[in-house]
Amino acid sequence: MLSNRARIAVFVSGGGTNLQALIDAEKSGLLHSGQIALVVASRPGVYALERAKAAGIPAAVVDRTACAGQADFEARLLALLDEHAIDMIVLAGFMSILSADFTARYPKRILNVHPSLIPSFCGKGFYGLKVHEAALQYGVKVTGATVHFVNEIPDGGQILLQKAVEILPGDTPEVLQRRVMEQAEWILLPRATELVAREITEKGV
Ligand code: GAR
Repeated sequence: MLSNRARIAVFVSGGGTNLQALIDAEKSGLLHSGQIALVVASRPGVYALERAKAAGIPAAVVDRTACAGQADFEARLLALLDEHAIDMIVLAGFMSILSADFTARYPKRILNVHPSLIPSFCGKGFYGLKVHEAALQYGVKVTGATVHFVNEIPDGGQILLQKAVEILPGDTPEVLQRRVMEQAEWILLPRATELVAREITEKGV
C-alpha cells in the first residue's frame, strides 16, 4: 500500500556521490515526493554504504561475485525490494546490468544516471571513467549527463533529463568526471527522481 511518498531503493557499486546528492535533496526538501528507504550495494565495503549509514538509511549488500549467476543475483535483489516495499529504483553508479526479466517488473520505475549525452558513449562497456576516456579520445568538445528510464537495452530507455557540460583543454578523465558530476549528474538525478516519485504518488499505483 502506497503512503504519500514513494519508497525508493538506490542501487550503488562505488563511492556514492550520486547517492549523497539524493540524500541531500531529501534533506533540503527538493526530493519530497519520495523517500530513500533502502540502499543496495553490489559489492561489500564500498563508500556508498558509509553514506547510507551516516544518513540512517537501511542498507544491504548483494555481492554480485558471490551469487550463483544473474538469476540468483536478481532473485536476491527482488527479495530485498519486496521486503522493503519499494516503489521505484534509482541506479546511482550501479555497475551491473539488469536482465529484461528484472526491468520488466518495474516499467518506468527504474532510473539510471549515465555520464554522457546518450546516445554518445553509452551501452555495454561504457561506465564510470571509461565514458570520459572515450569522450576525450574522440575529441568531442561537449559532453554531459543523462538520466533515463531503464529497460532491457543497456542505456536504451526513455530519456528524462540531459545537461551539457563543456570539455576544456587539458582535461583528464578524472577532471572531466568531476565536472560532469558537479555540473550535471548531482543536479539532474535528484530532479528526475522527484519527477518520477511525484508521478507514482499522484497515480497512487
Ligand atoms: C557516476 O559518474 C555515474 O554516472 C557513473 O558512475 C559514476 C558513479 O559515481 N555510472 C555509470 O557509468 C553507469 N553506466 P558515484 O558512485 O560517486 O555516484
